[in-house]
Amino acid sequence: MIGKWTRKKERMKEQKTKQETETVEGQKKQQKKETETEISVEEYTELFFSGEEDVQLPMTTEMFNLAAEYKRLMFFYEAGIDQIVAKLQILNKEFQLNNDRNPIENIQYRVKSIESIQKKMEKMGVPLTRQNIVNCLHDVAGVRIICPFIKDVYQMGKMLLEQDDITYVKMKDYIREPKANGYRSLHLIVTVNVFFSNYKAKVPVELQLRTIAMNCWASLEHQLRYKKDFPTSEERHKELKICADMMASADERMQRLADELPGF
Ligand code: GTP
Ligand code: MG
Repeated sequence: MIGKWTRKKERMKEQKTKQETETVEGQKKQQKKETETEISVEEYTELFFSGEEDVQLPMTTEMFNLAAEYKRLMFFYEAGIDQIVAKLQILNKEFQLNNDRNPIENIQYRVKSIESIQKKMEKMGVPLTRQNIVNCLHDVAGVRIICPFIKDVYQMGKMLLEQDDITYVKMKDYIREPKANGYRSLHLIVTVNVFFSNYKAKVPVELQLRTIAMNCWASLEHQLRYKKDFPTSEERHKELKICADMMASADERMQRLADELPGF
């Protein structure tokens, strides 16, 4: 029985190859097969590390435990992010259903890296313990919500705060009161209830809500600032502030245009 099946499979394979070599598509496939070469794992590492000597990567028990602890902690924050993102997606879909447009353009999120956590705790002069991280840092879980219009920013923030499994912790309204450099965003620190298998926790999450224009400025400014070898002069700061104000003015004009449309 098996032999019969095998023979049938072989015949089908022969027929397929014949068909393939007869068509242009088949000939192309055949050519590709001939030019493809298999690269071994050794060759890959050789190519990637271009002939560097191999390095010993020590893994002590302490390091292993730390990695496991960090993974657990990050899972806690990721669960908070998952909850917030699900809420935002529901609000966005519902708004789309009712108003034929999306009040959220894009959602981005991240958990703080262990290096940044360590740096911030060091700056605060607080020992790096799990409890201290949870109590002292509000931005380990971060969600950035990018909206088309200024009013969308406030509406999304309000809708989230109205949900009874979200607790308000702190707000910084850098739209009403921009930073001296021109940075604008609505920052909300909240906690969100998360049900784990045997306990319920309030996970702190930092929300940054901003318009597309505000986000455009913030990401470009961030890139310019993080190029360490680039000069920072008074002139450049002024120029960046002018750009931020231009973006803000465009946002206000766009909002006025939107306001002229009934039911927008
Ligand atoms: P952090 O220690 O950075 O968290 O500052 P903070 O606790 O004083 O909070 P703040 O509200 O000032 O900023 C929090 C976050 O907002 C930052 O980590 C950035 O993601 C963003 N942010 C604040 N100011 C600026 C800015 O001037 N430019 C850009 N691009 N982002 C900013
Ligand atoms: Mg921060």
